[in-house]
Amino acid sequence: MSDVYEELAQMTPNSQKIYARNAKILAQEVVGTIWMPYSFYATEAKGSRMKDADGNEYIDLTMGFGPLILGHNPDCTVQVARETADKALLLGIPNPYQGELAELLVEASPCAEQVMFCSTGTEATMYAIRIARAATGRSKIALFDGSYHGAHDYVIMEGDLTNNPSEPDHHPQGKGVPEETTNQIMFLPYRDEHAFEMIKQHKDELACVIIEPVQSSNPRLDVGDFLRELKEVCAACGFHVSSGVPERTGRTR
Ligand SMILES: Cc1ncc(COP(=O)(O)O)c(C=O)c1O
Repeated sequence: MSDVYEELAQMTPNSQKIYARNAKILAQEVVGTIWMPYSFYATEAKGSRMKDADGNEYIDLTMGFGPLILGHNPDCTVQVARETADKALLLGIPNPYQGELAELLVEASPCAEQVMFCSTGTEATMYAIRIARAATGRSKIALFDGSYHGAHDYVIMEGDLTNNPSEPDHHPQGKGVPEETTNQIMFLPYRDEHAFEMIKQHKDELACVIIEPVQSSNPRLDVGDFLRELKEVCAACGFHVSSGVPERTGRTR
C-alpha cells in the first residue's frame, strides 16, 4: 500500500467499516460504473465543503461531479425543497410547476429550446440518443474516449488505446451488453484532431456525436479550441449543434 492509501485508511476507519458492510449488500459496490480509487462516505456538505463519516472535511472540487452550480445545500434550494415536501413528496401525475421551471431553464440556457426532466444523467443521455436517432433515422453514435455518460447499454463503454490511440477500440465496461449494441458505437479520440476526420468520414451513419466537454476523470482548462472546432465540424456535417460552447472571447488560457 502506498503512503497515501495508508494515510487515508488511518483517517477514515468508519468509511472502511461502511465499505465492508455495503460490499455484501449493494451491487454497485462491486460493479460500480464510477471507479473511485479509494471509497469514503460523505455524510454532510455545505457550499464547497463536505464531511465524511469520520468527520474529516474536504473541499469538493467537482461540485457533486458537476451539477451543483450553487454549491452543496444552498439555502434557497433547501428552503423550497422543505416547503414542497410539506405539500407532497410524490404525486405520480404531472404537477403545474415543471412548466414554469422549464421556461426559466430555456431562458437561462442558450442551447435549450425544450426541456425534458430526468432523475439521472443516465436517463438524460438515453433520451438524447433516442431523440437523435428518431430525428436522423440513423443509429450509430460517436462517443469520446474517457467520457462518462452514465450506465445504460449504449454508453457504458471503455476505450482501448493500445492498437491506435487516434482510432480507439472500445468494449463494454461490464458483462450483459449485447454485441449488436457495442457495434452501434464509434469511439473517438479526445483532444485529438483525428476525431474530426472520423466524424466527417462517418457522418452518414451517425445519429449523434456526444461529448463530456470537460471530463470529470480528466478535468482541464485547455479544451476550448477543441470544443469550438468540434462544434464547427459537426455543423458542417449537418448535425444540429447547440450553442452551448461560448464563442471565442480573445482570452487565452
Ligand atoms: C457527463 C455525464 N453524463 C452522464 C452522467 C450519468 O449521470 P448519473 O450518474 O446521474 O446517471 C454523468 C455522471 O457523472 C456525467 O458526468
